[in-house]
Amino acid sequence: MTHAIQLHETGGPEVMKWEAVDVAAPGPGEALLRQTVVGLNYIDTYQRKGVYPIALPGSIGMEATGVVEAVGEGVTNVKPGDRVGYVMGPAGAYAERRTYPASRLIALPDDIADEAAAAMMLKGLTAAYLTQRTFPVQAGQTVLFHAAAGGVGLIICQWLNMMGATVIGTVSREEKAAVAKAHGCHHTINYSSENFADRVKEITNGAGVPVVYDGVGAATWEGSLKALSPFGYYVSFGAASGPVPPLPGTALAPKALYYTRPGLAPHTATPELMQGLAEPLFDAVRKGLKIEINQRFALRDAADAHRALEGRQTTGSTLLMID
Ligand SMILES: NC(=O)c1ccc[n+]([C@@H]2O[C@H](COP(=O)([O-])OP(=O)(O)OC[C@H]3O[C@@H](n4cnc5c(N)ncnc54)[C@H](OP(=O)(O)O)[C@@H]3O)[C@@H](O)[C@H]2O)c1
Repeated sequence: MTHAIQLHETGGPEVMKWEAVDVAAPGPGEALLRQTVVGLNYIDTYQRKGVYPIALPGSIGMEATGVVEAVGEGVTNVKPGDRVGYVMGPAGAYAERRTYPASRLIALPDDIADEAAAAMMLKGLTAAYLTQRTFPVQAGQTVLFHAAAGGVGLIICQWLNMMGATVIGTVSREEKAAVAKAHGCHHTINYSSENFADRVKEITNGAGVPVVYDGVGAATWEGSLKALSPFGYYVSFGAASGPVPPLPGTALAPKALYYTRPGLAPHTATPELMQGLAEPLFDAVRKGLKIEINQRFALRDAADAHRALEGRQTTGSTLLMID
């Protein structure tokens, strides 16, 4: 017997219940994990609300660290006692113990602590593919990133800075501007009170930026297109404020823009693809990229963590702690 956050219906934070559950023995290709720390990510709220369907009753969550307790038939890449982490599905990270496909586990290096790993893997692998695969950023380029003080934000702003890019970040409050500035943002724009597209044009002497990374969505897509230079890339990778409406090609034509909607799942679909993102992330941390754990909640209080994240009260990474 173990405990997990269980959902019997989708909806607000209150649908998450802390319950005793059975854990099956690991099947072929699976590992049984005793989890140590769970990473909170915005995608968890989409699963809770039913935007991304999950099996009911069931759990949510896409990131955790832990120790392998047992392995099923055919598993050779990990063994009992190994420290591991994982990102992405199958959903169900909000649990003390669970089974998970062994081939998707990431071996944690000795110099990366569980808390840091749970705070960085999903957000940091996202930062890695966005800046290295989706739009490979070159030194000297100026980049716009929305919600710069958030979880992905604090990691990607530091990393872009290390790559030699100039980073413009949007935030909703002045305290968040200070946090973003302390983590690699050269320019911050308060998009609650300023027209961010106009400010980007001012900062870039009218040129606009070659790429906008937009995880905010409904509230920012229109200004993001305006902030782009001709042939620029609109990278829509999330919808914290709601989804981007269907965009007609004519919205892109005047500046011959490119529009992509990437996701972490295809970028981590094989161990090679995943490792190709994890290694540069761990290296960047060794070179000084700081993983800021600015909020911790008990896993059983996941509802409070969701309220804080959706209420725009958090900065950096948030962990759900297992007693
Ligand atoms: N496609 C992928 O592979 C992928 C992977 C990871 C994350 N994501 C996406 O990246 C985004 C950031 O994820 P995260 O986990 O790091 O979250 P986060 O940035 O820590 O939190 C979301 C932030 O969005 C901003 N925001 C703007 N409008 C909002 C609204 N109406 N409601 C709530 N927040 C609003 C808030 O910052 P301000 O208060 O400063 O506005 C808030 O702090 C999310 O959209 C997530 O889905 C996508």
